[in-house]
Amino acid sequence: MKTVAIAGATGAVGAQMLECLKERKIPVNIKLLASARSKGKIIDGLVVEELKEDSFDGVDYVLGACENDVTKKWMPWAQKAGCVVVDNSSAFRLEDDVPLVVPEINAQDIQNNQGIIANPNCSTIIALVACDALKKEFGIKRMVVTTMQAVSGAGVKGIHDLETQIIDPNAPREAFPYQIAFNLIPQIGDFDDLGISKEEWKMQNEGRKIWHDPDLLVNCTCVRVPVLRSHSESITLECEKEVDVEKAREVLKSALGVQLKDDPQNKVYPMPLDTTNQDDVFVGRIRKDITDPEGKTLSLFCCGDQIRKGAATNAVQILEKLLEQN
Ligand SMILES: NC(=O)c1ccc[n+]([C@@H]2O[C@H](COP(=O)([O-])OP(=O)(O)OC[C@H]3O[C@@H](n4cnc5c(N)ncnc54)[C@H](OP(=O)(O)O)[C@@H]3O)[C@@H](O)[C@H]2O)c1
Repeated sequence: MKTVAIAGATGAVGAQMLECLKERKIPVNIKLLASARSKGKIIDGLVVEELKEDSFDGVDYVLGACENDVTKKWMPWAQKAGCVVVDNSSAFRLEDDVPLVVPEINAQDIQNNQGIIANPNCSTIIALVACDALKKEFGIKRMVVTTMQAVSGAGVKGIHDLETQIIDPNAPREAFPYQIAFNLIPQIGDFDDLGISKEEWKMQNEGRKIWHDPDLLVNCTCVRVPVLRSHSESITLECEKEVDVEKAREVLKSALGVQLKDDPQNKVYPMPLDTTNQDDVFVGRIRKDITDPEGKTLSLFCCGDQIRKGAATNAVQILEKLLEQN
């Protein structure tokens, strides 16, 4: 039986990876790795080990769930041990020899891996799963996106900030520069000279790579909101062809990983509480942009659990494909 190590097993994504491996009944041995702080902790009957140079001896696959700096440090050790790594950080996503994969969209790219496969950014995964069938139907030239990102996107510290500040707004902040309870913060990542944040660049840069479309244009605004889990996104698509709402609904009904929730008259639309702790991306509020005289612009709203489909589930789906190949 193959052995899978989860690097960062005590974090928000790592803990979810363990759950996904178990609920999908993937027949592998599991090894849990984290920092020295977590050494000896027991999760689901497994003892957490400190991530060290020899941690990957005898390991076949690594699911990476650490921040960039930590990932860059241990990656050479995993490579030396001959592991194939599916990594959640953004450390390697745009490297030429690293496939960036959403299995519903570009599973075939997994074959080109040289030992590292990257999981895309969580908001990018959710947006692209929501829009892939629409891209095939109408051709997407440009996307205007506003993300509303849950606090758990910043890991266990983000969850802690919201939970403590709801009780005491002056509780010490760990993850965010401002109070997040009863507030929202229009900054995720550092801004460049153009006033665009690192997180905001990801959807265009990663979207181009996943869709194999170097001309894709994305104008993105990322906002942190006081939601525990599941990102929401308001998306407007400028398309090559004239759009049709009924056709959009029809193609989304059969799109992989999507659930259509679009009956606004009856108050049916995607909401983050409803996508929490499940894998599908919900899509709704589909409407033509009436300000476009050519009728080529479509707006929608989508939600997805960014710890599941935006991170852990996507990585475990990639692992399943790797296991099928071997
Ligand atoms: N949260 C999300 O929604 C989300 C979505 C997509 C992608 N991601 C990405 O996934 C990665 C993990 O995010 P997260 O939200 O799960 O973060 P997190 O909750 O802060 O967890 C970080 C993990 O890294 C471990 N770690 C920290 N320093 C370490 C070290 N020196 N050696 C070994 N392990 C170390 C931590 O172990 P200790 O507990 O021992 O400190 C913990 O298990 C990040 O790259 C993030 O950008 C996150």
